[in-house]
Amino acid sequence: MCFTMRTGVCSPPRMRRPAHIPRSTCRRPAAWCVALPLFLFLTALPGAPGAVAPAAARQAGAPGPSSSDTLTSPPVLANLSGKPGVVELRLTAAPARLELVPGKPTDAFAFNGTVPGPTIELREGDSVIIHFRNELPEPTTVHWHGLHLPAGADGSPLHPVPPGGSQDYVFNVGPGTAGTYWYHPHPDRTTTEQVAKGLFGALIIRAAHDPLAGIPDRLLILSDNRFRPDGSVDMPEPTSLAAQYDAENGREGNVLLVNGRAMPTLSIRRGELQRWRIINASAARVYRLAIPGEKLIHVGSDSGLFEHPREVDDLLLANSERVEVLVRGTGEPGRRTVLQSLPYDRYDPHTRPPDWNQPRDLLELRTSSDPPVSGLSVPATLRAIPAIDTTEIAERRVIVFSQGLINGKAMDMHRVDISARLDTTEIWQIENVVGMDHPFHLHGFRFQVLDRDGVPEPYVSWKDSVNVPKHGVVRIVVRFEDYAGKWMFHCHILDHEDMGMMGILEVR
Ligand code: C2O
Ligand code: CU
Ligand code: CU
Repeated sequence: MCFTMRTGVCSPPRMRRPAHIPRSTCRRPAAWCVALPLFLFLTALPGAPGAVAPAAARQAGAPGPSSSDTLTSPPVLANLSGKPGVVELRLTAAPARLELVPGKPTDAFAFNGTVPGPTIELREGDSVIIHFRNELPEPTTVHWHGLHLPAGADGSPLHPVPPGGSQDYVFNVGPGTAGTYWYHPHPDRTTTEQVAKGLFGALIIRAAHDPLAGIPDRLLILSDNRFRPDGSVDMPEPTSLAAQYDAENGREGNVLLVNGRAMPTLSIRRGELQRWRIINASAARVYRLAIPGEKLIHVGSDSGLFEHPREVDDLLLANSERVEVLVRGTGEPGRRTVLQSLPYDRYDPHTRPPDWNQPRDLLELRTSSDPPVSGLSVPATLRAIPAIDTTEIAERRVIVFSQGLINGKAMDMHRVDISARLDTTEIWQIENVVGMDHPFHLHGFRFQVLDRDGVPEPYVSWKDSVNVPKHGVVRIVVRFEDYAGKWMFHCHILDHEDMGMMGILEVR
């Protein structure tokens, strides 16, 4: 299928590899890549592991963000309930005129008037009710990405909220689900545009007993965008070449933002440990995160902490994935290091942006002149994660990702693609048969990765999204617990999702 079918232009790159052509030599019509306009403002980027020495200590009197920091966090959404264990929130999506880039007002869409939207803070065991109001001129939903909740509260495209409409999202926060999540709209076919206009925010679930309590948290929501000279969000004309690139690569922007700000600064004391919760809220950009010259201590992924920390040089963060890392302050006061996104080739060669191989700066980390902190170490064990029992597998399924299609089909809201039984365990083998990466995401149920290209996953973790590299195969195991209903599974490149690279799982 041709990705630009809906635009009516058709000489787009076709990504499906004909069966007789070996993977490495898959060739495509070259004509339009000759015209590959170097001016395309699509920029791009970003593609590892070890162990950390044990011990334990608490960072007593850990400093909050310094006043010179330009990294700011979105406001935390106020809880209207006074009852313990009950969280009642109000969230409104509405048009807003905001300075998304300095000095240029943008006609944006915002949750409660801010981009990113307010941060939702929950605790394991909470009963949650979120009163949502849609003041946008179009239908929307709020999807709580990664949460395990009733299907009717999932904010999937099956439950649109009309303009002027309201919906209460009601759910409980399960034990053992502490982690970093996020929320975003999920309307039928218009998710890319609504997210580009500013609708996304973080959701953090805190643990009853957090092994890293005492280490200060920093939230880093990564997004990218493209603006016209007048400050408006640049969505391409449907028939333009830029639209074809977006359809193929997913929409990337040349402006990279952390919590809505380009290249903010953050300070850290010598010896201090900070816990960074990083969310990839970009429609299509994949980040290969590194602080050159420093190690990152990778402590968690989509749905919370690992069993043990791992020391790494860099971390791949595909669309909608999250990581938790510990960063340590090093060097003399005034030392500056940069959190970067290193080159990572997720692209098909024919639509790969010309500057894909350039590192991009995200945030500057400064060692402050405050007195150093000493004696801090990282606990060797964070929590126990039992591996999902695979002795009884109800179904083994193969999910084939081709360009824009899943198992050869485009999304149909009235079709059920996979039927599964409640309280059973399944293994899904996700095969990407084309020459660009597609990140897989499943709603409602977190899973564990078994292996990637046959290589067993070296550690157990809870995931809801996993990148499936070009021509790669990832196997996951998932248990369908608690909630019957219809759930989406899809590629989390938002343009691909909008164009139908999505299917429906019904759990009964
Ligand atoms: Cu982040 Cu179907 O969603
Ligand atoms: Cu989701
Ligand atoms: Cu995709």
